[in-house]
Parts: sequence; structure tokens; C-alpha cells
Amino acid sequence: MKTRAIRVRIWLVYALWIIACLLLSLPSLSRAADAAAAAAAKAAICTSCHGLGGNSTTGEYPSLAGQTSRYLYLQLRDFKAGRRSDPRMSPMAENLTPDDMHVLADYFAAQKPIATDFKADPIKVEAGRKKSEEILCTMCHLGGFSGQNEIPRVAGQQYPYIVKQLQDFRDKKRTNDAGNMTSVSKNLTDADIENLANYIANLQ
Ligand code: HEC
Ligand code: HEC
Repeated sequence: MKTRAIRVRIWLVYALWIIACLLLSLPSLSRAADAAAAAAAKAAICTSCHGLGGNSTTGEYPSLAGQTSRYLYLQLRDFKAGRRSDPRMSPMAENLTPDDMHVLADYFAAQKPIATDFKADPIKVEAGRKKSEEILCTMCHLGGFSGQNEIPRVAGQQYPYIVKQLQDFRDKKRTNDAGNMTSVSKNLTDADIENLANYIANLQ
């Protein structure tokens, strides 16, 4: 009888301990929910151009969904500082604090990328794949152009946007890349750029 009473008491202490743990974790759970809601609210204005969840549906706006957080943060910082400039995007970064930039970067990095409706030309895809092997693009961007840290994911990005960025790097209109992209793109012809963009926009 005695051992049974002890066992009941042990179970009681154990149950109380679990209840206490649950009660203690409630505020942090609701804090996490508040933070997620605040991030989504901050990102709402961005989605008017970059699409719902950062999945762009227009060629002039890049998708942000599934991009690396580090790269997104660095681009926002560069737009604000004027190292990268675009008449539609620069004003959007003007009033962001570093904290806002981290929150927005983490938010869009965590969104799931959705395939665009781009119809690739198979001949250009093959030519682009060869060119990308020749120039060793994936040495930095990783196989499948999935990106890492400060090097962007380009797989499945909007085709017209990829073309514009490669032209801008080649023509030194975009120079916030510490020389990485301006040097690899300097000898690309317009046809090379079309081929590369067909190949990369077609990757998932
Ligand atoms: C009025 C339209 C518009 C709005 C609103 C907008 N952007 Fe942009 N954004 C652009 C355009 C256009 C570009 C591409 C500029 C270029 O061609 O270089 C861009 C580029 C970017 C890039 C660089 C992406 C890459 O792959 O290099 C990031 C990051 C970004 N925007 C984040 C944001 C965030 C965060 C917000 C909300 C605070 C926002 N944008 C709101 C138009 C917009
Ligand atoms: C030495 C490393 C390196 C190599 C090689 C390289 N890239 Fe990049 N690429 C980068 C970095 C770093 C950035 C981001 C630059 C910045 O911060 O603005 C970038 C940016 C880009 C962008 C812009 C993405 C966006 O969202 O705006 C495209 C497109 C791109 N690279 C395509 C290519 C292609 C195609 C090749 C091969 C022809 C290539 N890269 C080779 C490092 C590299």
C-alpha cells in the first residue's frame, strides 16, 4: 500500500511539473506568433510588387521567396545606402532600419518558392547550361543555382529580371557585387545572356 501511495505522489509531481512547463511556455509561444504577424505586416507593402509571399508574377520584379536571408539583407542595405539603385526599389528601402531589414529578409527567405509560368526554349537551355559550366557559375551559386549565404539563389527567378541583371553587371550599371559578377559577365554577348537566363529560369 505504501509503495502505491508513493507512486501516486510521484505521478502527481510529474503531472504538476508538465502543467507548469506548459504554462511557462505560453507567453513565448504567443510572442513568436506576435513576431510572425508583425513580419507579415511589414512585408505586406513589398508584396504589391514582389507578389504574394514574395513570389513575383511579373518579369520586372524579382521573386524573393526562398532567397537566402543574408543576400536579401545585403541588397536592402545596398539599396538604402545607394550602392544599388532602382527608381522603384530604392525609395522602398529608404526608411528601413537594420532590424526591419533582418525581419523582412528572414520573412521572405522562409516563404516557399512557386514555379513561374516561364516557357523555356530547349535549345537555349542547353546552350545556357554549357555556358554556365564553361564559366563555372555554380562554383559560387552551387549546383542548380540554389545559392548560399551572400550568393543569391537564381533558380526559377523571373526570366526578364535575370536578363536585366546580367546586362546590368556586364555594362557596370550594377556594381554592388564586390567584382564577382562584373568580372564573370564582362565577355558575355546578348545571346549568351539569353541562353543562360533560359537555363536558370527553367531550374526549380
Ligand atoms: C514599387 C515596386 C516595389 C516595391 C513596393 C518593393 N520593391 Fe523590391 N524591387 C523592386 C524592383 C523593380 C526591383 C529590381 C530592381 C532591379 O532591376 O535591379 C526590386 C528588388 C528588390 C530586392 C533585390 C532582389 C534580388 O534578387 O536582388 C530586394 C531584396 C527587394 N526588392 C526587397 C523589397 C522589400 C523587402 C520590399 C518592401 C519593404 C520591397 N522590395 C518593395 C520593386 C519594388
Ligand atoms: C565568384 C563567384 C560568382 C560566380 C563565378 C558567379 N556569380 Fe553570380 N553572383 C555572385 C554574387 C556574390 C552575387 C550577388 C552580388 C551582390 O551582392 O549584389 C551574384 C549575383 C548574380 C545574379 C543576380 C541575382 C539577383 O537576384 O539579382 C545573377 C543573375 C547571377 N549572379 C548569375 C550568374 C551567372 C549566370 C554566372 C555564370 C556566368 C554567375 N552568376 C557566376 C557570385 C558569383
